[in-house]
Amino acid sequence: MSKILITGGAGLIGSKVTEILFKNGHNITILDPFIRYLPTEKIRFPDYLERRFTEVEIEKLSFIRGDTSNAGLVQRTIDELQPDYILHLAGMPLANQSNIYIEEAIQGIVGGTVNLLQSVISCKNLKNFVYVSSSMVYGDFDAIPCPEDHPKRPKDVYGGSKYSGEIMTRVFAQRFNIPCTIVRPSAVYGPYDINRRVIQIFIENAIEQKPITLDGGGDLQFDFTYVEDIANGLASALLHKNAIGEDFNITYGKGYSLKEVADELLNYFPKLNVIINDDRDMNRPLRGALDIQKAKEILDYNPKFNLKEGINMYVQSYEHPNMK
Ligand SMILES: NC(=O)c1ccc[n+]([C@@H]2O[C@H](COP(=O)([O-])OP(=O)(O)OC[C@H]3O[C@@H](n4cnc5c(N)ncnc54)[C@H](O)[C@@H]3O)[C@@H](O)[C@H]2O)c1
Repeated sequence: MSKILITGGAGLIGSKVTEILFKNGHNITILDPFIRYLPTEKIRFPDYLERRFTEVEIEKLSFIRGDTSNAGLVQRTIDELQPDYILHLAGMPLANQSNIYIEEAIQGIVGGTVNLLQSVISCKNLKNFVYVSSSMVYGDFDAIPCPEDHPKRPKDVYGGSKYSGEIMTRVFAQRFNIPCTIVRPSAVYGPYDINRRVIQIFIENAIEQKPITLDGGGDLQFDFTYVEDIANGLASALLHKNAIGEDFNITYGKGYSLKEVADELLNYFPKLNVIINDDRDMNRPLRGALDIQKAKEILDYNPKFNLKEGINMYVQSYEHPNMK
């Protein structure tokens, strides 16, 4: 049984990794300030935070309510816990919000990462520090599927901050001999998200019998990844000794268009009004599938849920009578 610190562990991805690691017998501490990024009027459905830990004995998890921007708290947490592993998910996860709340994004993503890295210099037992980055560090994809050695040309505050966090992780790892791994997820979706990412918006509009709008003519592609797949991939990246010093794309590994998402939803909401909008936001990187071969080979990563299966589980989680 290992002692594992998960920053941002109360979030969509963090709570799922917690469940997996807890069920494998590990001792989990979560450092998280339980942030809501969206105003309450936008959260039209129940705040699903409380449903995230239903699969674990919650009293056996340790929660520290706190922010990685608080250097003193981070140092005390690391000194007292002396974790064997750290999974670092904390930080503003929304690209659009990071361009508005710029200081908060940079302080959390870059400053918080540096605070953690400084604190683990004195941590003698640490076996791995996983920095959770994003596919947004690549900017527009030149190649599809996009490999890990693709040029890093982030286009916004979020991508730039995530990439800065990667650079600082590598610098500290090299200078202070900290074992580390970098993981780049993309377009994660699944039950109990409260951040209103695209699939959540589409499902909730469908339940409320409101239209959904497909930007970019519906052809824009994303590597939509079901939350359980990324969570399993992160658990492997954290614990696998061959992960150290590596960077990995961990996604489903296939580009799905917004039109394909809408088509899946029509199976559950046959009257769904789908509006096609030919415009697209040019500030958002043009993306698609990521190359996940490296994670498959080194981590035995094997994503299980294609879009059809993932959307089915996500839609069912709403348990709403408006579904077919
Ligand atoms: N969801 C995606 O599609 C996606 C894709 C690529 C990368 N990521 C990254 O994965 C991580 C988790 O994302 P998520 O989708 O689970 O988001 P989420 O909002 O569901 O969870 C993030 C959690 O981190 C906590 N947090 C935020 N700032 C913090 C800080 N400074 N200190 C401590 N805790 C903090 C929040 O309270 C929240 O519980 C983020 O770093 C995000 O950038 C997510």
